[in-house]
Amino acid sequence: MKNFVIKGNACWNENIEQIHCEPNAYLVCEDGVCAGVFHELPERYADLPLTDFGDKLILPGMTDLHVHAPQFAFRGLGMDMELMDWLKTYAFPEEAKYKDLVYADRAYAQFADQLRRSATTRAAVFATLHVPATELLMEKMEASGLISYVGKVNMDRNGPDYLCEKSAQESLEATERWICDTKSKFERTHPILTPRFIPSCTDELMHGIRRLVEKYDLPVQSHLSENFSEIEFVQSLCRDSKFYGDAYDRYGLFGGDHRCIMAHCVHSGEAEIELMRKNGVFAAHSPLSNANLSSGAAPVGKLFREFVNVGLASDIAAGESENLFRSISAAIRASKLRWRMLDQEIYPLTVSQAFYIATVGGGKFFGKVGSFDPGYEFDAIVVDDATIPHPQELDLQQRLERTLYLADDRHLCAKYVAGTRLF
Ligand code: GUN
Ligand code: FE
Repeated sequence: MKNFVIKGNACWNENIEQIHCEPNAYLVCEDGVCAGVFHELPERYADLPLTDFGDKLILPGMTDLHVHAPQFAFRGLGMDMELMDWLKTYAFPEEAKYKDLVYADRAYAQFADQLRRSATTRAAVFATLHVPATELLMEKMEASGLISYVGKVNMDRNGPDYLCEKSAQESLEATERWICDTKSKFERTHPILTPRFIPSCTDELMHGIRRLVEKYDLPVQSHLSENFSEIEFVQSLCRDSKFYGDAYDRYGLFGGDHRCIMAHCVHSGEAEIELMRKNGVFAAHSPLSNANLSSGAAPVGKLFREFVNVGLASDIAAGESENLFRSISAAIRASKLRWRMLDQEIYPLTVSQAFYIATVGGGKFFGKVGSFDPGYEFDAIVVDDATIPHPQELDLQQRLERTLYLADDRHLCAKYVAGTRLF
């Protein structure tokens, strides 16, 4: 049923600088799309079924623009290293387990179930290099009701023997088979090309992935400028490149004619930021991960000042939680530390800016998503903030701010994705 009305206190971004709060509002969903938010219900919608959520908050659903499904199993563990050692010590051994479909079934069921309960309505997900487990994850994501992109990971160099494809050709053949098997199989779950990052992929593999982008018209997701050793390693592998993003661009895997997500962008310089803007690349900002792996603090304020698309990301398991409320407050905190200690030119994020990147910013990768303006797909979460006690009167802006700092899945009492109610 995609034609209905819900009633409650609606809060969403009017623009990046301003949050609009509409008390006791009627939100109308027509064919899965928001028809508007009304103070009084227009006569033409009077016959639609109405659910009254009373004094609860109704917010746009959130987009997790970068999350590793197989790493959910070790979230909260092993935060004592930087990226390259962390991959070798924690991430690669865990990802190798997804060769075993019995393990994958158990682990991915937990991941998909937790994402279903969370504030996330859309996600861009990394799986592992294993095709059968990736297809299993896609089935579970489809059943969860979320709308997502899922990527079989490509990696044919610099990995351990137990987690490295034998050749570019083998990797490309497996990827093309997986694309053909899955591109029309699901309603809500779509393949996305996923070269892990340049250190993991030979030139031959990257050129082959470019051919698949063209042949199947698919988007791309990867990692960019996360960590100093990683950046140095990329420069040593791609000697002609001017910077990390330029190296992706030389393979034709940095946006432009395809949609592209790059996670982190912690150390992106002027030229890289300019190329991201020009090519419409989405930066997936992962503040929990950037702190946990001591990667740094991304110049988020600068990215959106320069008109780069920015979304928010959990980056599980380097980020410890799928709860995007937590990433919102972490993004604000990281930007304050960066401003205080590193660069007084880039002001700390406001609550409005952080809410924006979690909703409209990342939602844009999926189309018109993340707002209650008319024409946006109807993604919404309903929050019962009354269970977070307080002794004083709060207005709606204050209730929203508290929610962004304090809420988790236990405070959600309903969730809609493109007009379908999940719970
Ligand atoms: N760079 C390459 N692989 C990974 C990963 O799994 N997590 C993070 N945070 N960065 C990466
Ligand atoms: Fe990542």
